[in-house]
Amino acid sequence: MTILLVSRSVTHHGGQDAIHRLAAATAEATGLPVRACFLDGAEPSLHAALDALPEDDEALLVAVHLPPDRYLDTWVRRAVAHWRTTRDRPLRITTTAPLAAQLALVTAVTEAIAGEYTELSGNPGPFRSPAWNQITRHRKHVLVCRGPRCTAYGANDVAVTLSERLAHHKLGDDDILVTNTGCLFPCNLGPLVVVHPDDTWYEHVDTALATRIADEHLRSDQPVDDKRTREH
Ligand code: FES
Repeated sequence: MTILLVSRSVTHHGGQDAIHRLAAATAEATGLPVRACFLDGAEPSLHAALDALPEDDEALLVAVHLPPDRYLDTWVRRAVAHWRTTRDRPLRITTTAPLAAQLALVTAVTEAIAGEYTELSGNPGPFRSPAWNQITRHRKHVLVCRGPRCTAYGANDVAVTLSERLAHHKLGDDDILVTNTGCLFPCNLGPLVVVHPDDTWYEHVDTALATRIADEHLRSDQPVDDKRTREH
């Protein structure tokens, strides 16, 4: 039997290496073959890891819900530093060692392997449903940056306002496709909202501007000219 630790994408700052190290430590603790693989965004994929098993092997999957994430550790520090500079509160803020570095994580995986298993079965239909053949026929594609700086500056409220205004105007994915993204780079201009195909970048978006973007640009095709950032 081969144990597969299945994680989500951890494509930055050694996150994948840490999952592989967890697999190696678990292998040492259990005496069993343990490999790491990823559901999305990293190699080997779950499919590739299953492909690599010998015909007569069997796989025990352990979904790892706590992927180590140096990006998170780094950005927690930066976000707290930003919070301190924008608030007038003498709050003491500390952090623990990363969870992924704890021996207890290896112990938890080891105990899960020693516990009861559930046969994995299910309908493969939803994986390739015909519904996923269609490219939406949207007029506009809106990128809402949800990266760490834009989030610290208020991107969550912006996203909620945009969503509510589009719902109010009954504009769905087939008209206005909204995609939340990671960092789009000009973080100091955040929160950022980008409207394509117009290539219009709105900077320092707050809920009032998000409302205007939805009402004027997305519904009525009139860019919010006095708030529009540079064109390319
Ligand atoms: S976090 Fe939004 S542009 Fe970087």
